[in-house]
Amino acid sequence: MNTTTQTLASHKALAMQAAVEQNLLHEIQPHIVLVNIQGILDTASALSSAFPENTRHCFAVKANPYKKILKVLKQGGMGAEVASATELELALKAKFRAAQIVFDAPVKTVQEINRALSLGIDLNIDNFQELERVAEWFEVNSSPSNIGFRINPQIGAGAIDSTSTATLTSKFGIALNDEGNRQKIIDACRQYHWINTIHLHVGSVACPVQLLLDGVTAGYNLAQEINASLGQNQITQLDIGGGLPVDFSHDELPDFKAYAAALKQALPDIFNSGYRLTTEFGRALIAKNAISIGRVEYTKSAGNQAIALTHLGVQTLTRTVYEPEYWKRRVSAFNPQGILKRGHETRQDIAGPACFSGDIIAHKRLLPLLQPGDYVMVHDTGSYHFSSHYQYNALPRLPVYGYRIDENRQVKFKCFSRGQNTVDVIEDYS
Ligand SMILES: Cc1ncc(COP(=O)(O)O)c(C=O)c1O
Repeated sequence: MNTTTQTLASHKALAMQAAVEQNLLHEIQPHIVLVNIQGILDTASALSSAFPENTRHCFAVKANPYKKILKVLKQGGMGAEVASATELELALKAKFRAAQIVFDAPVKTVQEINRALSLGIDLNIDNFQELERVAEWFEVNSSPSNIGFRINPQIGAGAIDSTSTATLTSKFGIALNDEGNRQKIIDACRQYHWINTIHLHVGSVACPVQLLLDGVTAGYNLAQEINASLGQNQITQLDIGGGLPVDFSHDELPDFKAYAAALKQALPDIFNSGYRLTTEFGRALIAKNAISIGRVEYTKSAGNQAIALTHLGVQTLTRTVYEPEYWKRRVSAFNPQGILKRGHETRQDIAGPACFSGDIIAHKRLLPLLQPGDYVMVHDTGSYHFSSHYQYNALPRLPVYGYRIDENRQVKFKCFSRGQNTVDVIEDYS
């Protein structure tokens, strides 16, 4: 079954019920993540069809580095944007070809640079010191890798500072408007013919589309200026990063078509100016395609506040717990048979298992009164949640299952990761 905004909700309900019926949730597995495989493929296809055919779409692996999920994305035609040496190896293990991978780590060792270049993996240079390291490689070696400059267009922050990367003092890339930097970039391009890409990523989550467009415009203008100054089209690629916002308040799929149309409106030549485009979306591709489910173990009341103690907490919803104003997620209540609970709603705190009082994944949320044995479903957890596990209290990673729904509405699960058990965690700390 194809995923549309309408089917998204019904897929989640079917998967939830099937997970209970097929005994995926039980005493020693009181929390799981369910990933909608067809949903990922459909989202990838929506992205590809929104842009010209020769655009390369590289999934930002940081959003969800599970190998089996990467394989689904690869099947959906995606490449991989990797921001650490380990993410690079994961992408290779998921069988992405070198030409499908972009290496963007902000801190790369010489060994890591050399490995990427020897494999022919594209690399975006973060700073002028890194440029020297790459130049040392090219003094004695060659590589089919496309080499880019990551620029910081210094156009400001979105609503969340910590995920905005184009601020005046951002740690990422070369600060484009700092005195002398623009000329230094042009001079480096003149000196090193192997630089052929301008890369930027404005930020994630809460960056308005206009801010993303301003960033791409700055990159495009720089590329044009470099080529004009060199008298030849040395810059042939624009890597425009990710950052498309996702609406976490209801089942709305990200609109890649609208984004591509807005790009074209901002830069009418962007799709036919001869630059090959690369995108690096993470959240927009995967956020809507997973749910996290946890059993309610106990319920209580304190100072007239209803509290449900569940197995989903800071270990998997870390940002939601620490910055609830920015990372609020929808929560639904299900009975022990996996059926949506309806009826009178009461304000409840949905608490996690960690031993600190801030471990609340939803504050005073209106839901049918939860009981022990019920389940809570947290929506839209595909990006940056179970991929950035937080091991406080030695809480184990959640198991991850992919699912597909056939024409008869039967749900078939595939284990993507068994998560961790107590022995695994003890091993980590031993
Ligand atoms: C360089 C780069 N590209 C792409 C992304 C993906 O961003 P998003 O998941 O918001 O699309 C990030 C996120 O931090 C990034 O740093």
